[in-house]
Amino acid sequence: MAGERKRVLVVGGSGYLGQHLLAALALELASAGAGDVDVAFTHHRDAAPPQLLDALPGVRAFRADLRSGDGLDAVSASFGQPHVIVNCAAISVPRACETDPAAAMATNVPSSLVNWSLSFGNDKSLLIHLSTDQVYEGVKSFYKEEDETLPVNVYGKSKVAAEKFITEKCSNYAILRSSIIYGPQTISPVDKSLPIQWMNDVLSQGKEVNFFNDEYRCPVYVKDMVDVILSLAKSWLSDGKKIQVLLNIGGPDRVSRLQMAESVADVRGYSHSTIKSVPASSVNRGVASPPDISMDITKLTQMLGIQPITFHDGVRATLDAEASTL
Ligand SMILES: NC(=O)c1ccc[n+]([C@@H]2O[C@H](COP(=O)([O-])OP(=O)(O)OC[C@H]3O[C@@H](n4cnc5c(N)ncnc54)[C@H](OP(=O)(O)O)[C@@H]3O)[C@@H](O)[C@H]2O)c1
Repeated sequence: MAGERKRVLVVGGSGYLGQHLLAALALELASAGAGDVDVAFTHHRDAAPPQLLDALPGVRAFRADLRSGDGLDAVSASFGQPHVIVNCAAISVPRACETDPAAAMATNVPSSLVNWSLSFGNDKSLLIHLSTDQVYEGVKSFYKEEDETLPVNVYGKSKVAAEKFITEKCSNYAILRSSIIYGPQTISPVDKSLPIQWMNDVLSQGKEVNFFNDEYRCPVYVKDMVDVILSLAKSWLSDGKKIQVLLNIGGPDRVSRLQMAESVADVRGYSHSTIKSVPASSVNRGVASPPDISMDITKLTQMLGIQPITFHDGVRATLDAEASTL
């Protein structure tokens, strides 16, 4: 790789994580000495979000469909073989996966992307793939990477199938099992509702709202997730050492939705009186949801030396960032 310009491709760069990652990559590129990295991303909708293109003029956009692989050859023809491929593309809403399992499997198992990256016939590319905490069954606390995967819904099943496909086919990869990713809105706002912003919105209206008291997650602040990806990418670009790694990526706190809402209320100074504690079984969400998929992140902290921020600090950072853009 020495002497060659480096290329980073963010697949699904128009989504929530993808946009945050592209913004961070663009900042890195603007920093001294980093000018030899080119960045591109893919989107699935017909046109890339214009606000994103305007904000990041040095970043190239391509349309690609992971179900068929259409569009990937145009990336190699025009941008070149990427040294780092970060796969953020997915049908990421569990209910949508449950409604259309075939589309979920075809999109979330990145067979076309992996086959395309292998078609170059060399060891130049690192694949960083986003998986989920929903690969775990959710019947105990603080899952470790070596624990059994036993997903309870189609989304989790598609992610387990993706992990299996990648580990069997690839020789240089990092699979990141992410918890809920939260943080500020993206450059081009995403359609889906963001958890902290939604909680802040309903609590600020002073209406009574139900929050589950018995489903536990380890939400991770988006900047920490971006730092993990950047750290893995930089290592590969600088030392060229292949990896085969599977990492849980979460924040340090195991919290229920009720505790998440209480944190938002505390940061904003709202009363807790409108926060109603209910079991998850009180609502039919149209998709099974694992009760406790909190994760042990020792491997992450030991391998990369990254200590994700606490949930409370992340909520504060999220709401501060939102306030500064008003
Ligand atoms: N956000 C979370 O809380 C969370 C938690 C755990 C794991 N994850 C995982 O992290 C990754 C990123 O999540 P996210 O929240 O950023 O997802 P997201 O906002 O839903 O973005 C999904 C991306 O995938 C693209 N896409 C959808 N269908 C596609 C297809 N058929 N071919 C190619 N691209 C397609 C979308 O393109 P368009 O925008 O053009 O439609 C978009 O860029 C996903 O793998 C997700 O499962 C996310």
